[in-house]
Amino acid sequence: MNQAKQFPADFTWGVATSAFQIEGASADDGKGPSIWDTFCANPLNIKDHSDGTVACDHYHRYREDVALIASLGVDAYRFSMAWSRVQPAGKGAWNEKGFDFYDRLIDTLAAKGVASHVTLYHWDLPQGLQDDGGWLNRDTAARFGEYAHEVARRFGDRLDAIATHNEPWCTANLGYGNAQFAPGVADAKQAVQVSHHLLLSHGLAMQAMRAANNKAQLGIVLNQWTADPATDSEADRAMAELEWAKSVQWFMDPIFKGRYPELAVRAHGANAPVVHDNDFKIIQQPIDFLGCNYYFRSYCSAEDPPRTPPGKLGFTDMGWEIYPQGLPELLVKLNAEYALPPIYITENGMANPDSVTGGAVHDQARIDFVKMHLDALAVAMDQGVDVRGYFLWSLLDNFEWNSGYAKRFGIVHVDYATQKRTPKDSAHWYREFVAAQRRR
Ligand code: FCB
Repeated sequence: MNQAKQFPADFTWGVATSAFQIEGASADDGKGPSIWDTFCANPLNIKDHSDGTVACDHYHRYREDVALIASLGVDAYRFSMAWSRVQPAGKGAWNEKGFDFYDRLIDTLAAKGVASHVTLYHWDLPQGLQDDGGWLNRDTAARFGEYAHEVARRFGDRLDAIATHNEPWCTANLGYGNAQFAPGVADAKQAVQVSHHLLLSHGLAMQAMRAANNKAQLGIVLNQWTADPATDSEADRAMAELEWAKSVQWFMDPIFKGRYPELAVRAHGANAPVVHDNDFKIIQQPIDFLGCNYYFRSYCSAEDPPRTPPGKLGFTDMGWEIYPQGLPELLVKLNAEYALPPIYITENGMANPDSVTGGAVHDQARIDFVKMHLDALAVAMDQGVDVRGYFLWSLLDNFEWNSGYAKRFGIVHVDYATQKRTPKDSAHWYREFVAAQRRR
């Protein structure tokens, strides 16, 4: 299929990473520890017992990595700032050396004509704030507002976009709900309260960044999926409806409608969050864009044992069902339920068991995956969804959280022993694809 006709000329093509997953340099130049440094210190938490001390050593190799990004011919690079690099304790003094790193990174990207899309929080809370109660402590939201203000004040005029959070669903549910992610808490009630404080912190950060009066577009990045009942049974349909309410509407409704979805509040029962009088006013700030990360759908089966997704197109190395049609289904549904701002697909991609053979990495599966999702994205746009850009996850193989380095999401292979970068076939394909878009 010729996709070259399907995307507007000003569509933003990009690649994405996050700080903890690539930077390494976990204690360099005054950086404070984050909850992920602490979490990794217990090797039982990470499947391959690894940590983020070195990762892709991007902190020291950023020039090489920016050259790689530029060689792909993409318009934009989505990366995150490590809060504890620029404010070691998450409150109090700023660390100029930390800010200098992002200053150099942004300038190096700009010199190559690559726009910066920054995420303020991609899961690496300063440990100093965790010691004060982390996201369960309402004050953390205020600290986040201060951090957002400082970043917008310093960099706002040189950034195309600033997202407050990446996937707050994960921070709340994997960090506090089932202990898979830092800080490793398993407590359903805490997870719900944390989700509220994350939304509150988003609102406070939006207000603070608007006050800093910069030119960057401001928004948030959510991981989203459709919730499909496995069968037509009433139980499966009810389960799917509740899943949509708890996962998608839970984060969308406060931002766009100033309330939590009734169905989910009722289901949370005694675990429903404590909400102060003005909170929804703060959370419901207009956003310039919504970032949507799409990897798979949710397949809802109330049977015991539950039915598993059919996976007609297979599963990735994460075990995630390959389901491109879920992307337009999701976007069209969101567009019907909410008055959406422009959308960016801020993450999409797959883990694949890649290896280097004769200096090349033949990851045809990833090329097929991206192609199918871009075709699917075009369907959503044809149906009236205002999508402005697509960021492939990820530029580099990197530290895949509790999976460690075992799962490879990059379009560039990283040999962790030597830090050698090898563009995979998918990188060459993406370069050609983006170039073809320009030739139209
Ligand atoms: C998303 C995360 C990102 C990466 C991908 C595979 O949930 O935002 O950091 O781990 O999944």
